[in-house]
Amino acid sequence: MKKLLITGGAGFIGSNFIFYEREKRPEYDLVCLDKLTYAGNLETLAPVMGDPKFKFIRADIADRKAVYEIFETEKPDIVVNFAAESHVDRSIENPAVFLETNVMGTQVLLDACRKYGVERYHQVSTDEVYGDLPLDRPDLFFTEKTPIHTSSPYSASKAGADLLCNAYHRTFGLPITISRCSNNYGPYQFPEKLIPLMIANALADKPLPVYGEGLNVRDWLYVEDHCAAIDLIIHNGQVGQVYNIGGHNEMRNIDIVKIILRQLGKPESLITHVTDRKGHDMRYAIDPTFIHAELGWLPATKFADGIRKTIQWYLDNRGWWENIVNGEYKTYYERMYG
Ligand code: NAD
Ligand code: DAU
Repeated sequence: MKKLLITGGAGFIGSNFIFYEREKRPEYDLVCLDKLTYAGNLETLAPVMGDPKFKFIRADIADRKAVYEIFETEKPDIVVNFAAESHVDRSIENPAVFLETNVMGTQVLLDACRKYGVERYHQVSTDEVYGDLPLDRPDLFFTEKTPIHTSSPYSASKAGADLLCNAYHRTFGLPITISRCSNNYGPYQFPEKLIPLMIANALADKPLPVYGEGLNVRDWLYVEDHCAAIDLIIHNGQVGQVYNIGGHNEMRNIDIVKIILRQLGKPESLITHVTDRKGHDMRYAIDPTFIHAELGWLPATKFADGIRKTIQWYLDNRGWWENIVNGEYKTYYERMYG
């Protein structure tokens, strides 16, 4: 019997993690702390809202007073920090909020963990802290020993948070773990990200904006596999350790877009090559040897199955994403894609 504080649980991966834990550990109390930024959506949490062992609290992780009050009343055993500004393009447009939430917010959570005491603080980080790999060296992968070498304000802010976690472990003995996962896909992903954006545009017969030639490579993992890895780390992982999470599923953006079009029966003429992202990372590729050897984790979902399930989810849940694309997101889309 434990109490988990899950920050950012109204977003894509955090909500999937709440559903995963609800199923896997029904005896646990789950508390979700979320600011409900543009990326947070209470509608997503509707399936657990009436559950007596689930509580939602609206708060900002960078608001020290609010966070301390929550720790004082809730007394969590384990904290899993998903809360973040997560979109690279938005960090290029406005870096400041990325530092406030991703760095300062993490620091407030670490301080709260020191002050009130926890069994474990887990930081959900990203493979982007390693920078990128060249396309002509398929033999290279990110390991836990790869030096941090960030490209965007987003990845720099996530790296800053990771360094703080390590510092709080070494200096204050705080029991932290960090995971660095590759690109996730699956249900409830905000439609600003590649896969849901392309599904939504294809369904509306709108142009599919591919940055540059679409040759950049990402290492895609079904979101539930990420949740399973985090569950293993918080229960069996070594304190002070970084775990890379990925399933050796590297794909070029253009190939992902073509798969989506094919599955939806839409023409490739919808593909539109647009100006490239500034500082665009070429290739991400995780070496998951350590988490496999140490915790026995392996991804359960093959890409062919995961993408089929994901496309079906967006077809079956049009109301969820249509509410978003027809809301304030429209202004962002116009600004970004003209
Ligand atoms: P998301 O943008 O879908 O969700 C982020 C959530 O955090 C939202 O619910 C938002 O309201 C909340 N939030 C933002 N600022 C907050 C604040 N100041 N206080 C409290 N809540 C706040 O993000 P996601 O894709 O689910 O990513 C979750 C985490 O996983 C992030 O830390 C991200 O860096 C990391 N990550 C994401 C991926 C990916 O492919 N999406 C891969 C690896 C790691
Ligand atoms: O690798 C993990 C990271 O994956 C996470 O830390 C981030 O939070 C998450 O957003 C994701 O970052 P990316 O930048 O890789 O994801 P995004 O979906 O924004 O873009 C994936 C690729 O698709 C990237 O090469 C840029 C390209 N792209 C993206 C968009 C939104 C396009 O070509 N067109 C687009 O409109």
